[in-house]
Amino acid sequence: MPTTDGLRPDAGERAFIDQVIARRSARPGALLGILEEVQEHQPRKYLCLDTIRYVAEKTGTSLSQIFSVVTFYALFNREPQGDHTIAICRGTACHTRGSRSLLESLRLELGLDEDGAHADKLTLTTPNGRFTIRTVACFGQCALAPVVEVDHRICGHMNEGVLKREVQALAGKESQ
Ligand code: FES
Repeated sequence: MPTTDGLRPDAGERAFIDQVIARRSARPGALLGILEEVQEHQPRKYLCLDTIRYVAEKTGTSLSQIFSVVTFYALFNREPQGDHTIAICRGTACHTRGSRSLLESLRLELGLDEDGAHADKLTLTTPNGRFTIRTVACFGQCALAPVVEVDHRICGHMNEGVLKREVQALAGKESQ
C-alpha cells in the first residue's frame, strides 16, 4: 500500500525497504540506489517523509543527508506522480527552439493551473492523477531541441501538434 506522511510505511513496505537495504548497503553509493529502488516500488513513484524517515532510521543516515540527496537529484520525487509523466526541457537550446510554448500548450491541454508554470523548475500533476508535467534543465540531447520526454521516451524536434497527439494517445489508452 502507498504510504502517507504521518504514518509509518506499512508492514509490506517496511519488509521491502529492509531487503533493499540489506542487499545494497555494502555497495558504494548505496544510499542513492536504495532510495531509487524504494521510490520505484512506490505506486506513485515518490518518497514521502515517512519513507525517508524509515530509510534514515534503518541505514543509520541523518535525515539531512537523505534530504540533500533527494533534493539534489532530479530523479527523486517528493510528491505523488501521475500515471504518465511528460518532461519538458527548459535548457537554453530547447528554450530558443520554443520549449516555453510547448510547456504552455501542454499546461492548457491538461487544464493545469498557471501557478508556477513560468518557473524554470516545476512539477504539476493533474487532479485525477493521470499526468505529471515536469521541467528538466537539459537532457543532454540539445541537437534534438526542443526535447520532450514522454514516459521516459525521448522525443526530439517536438512541436505543439505532435505533443498534443502524444497526450491524447496516452489519455485514450487510459480510458480503454
Ligand atoms: S537544452 Fe534541451 S536537451 Fe539540452
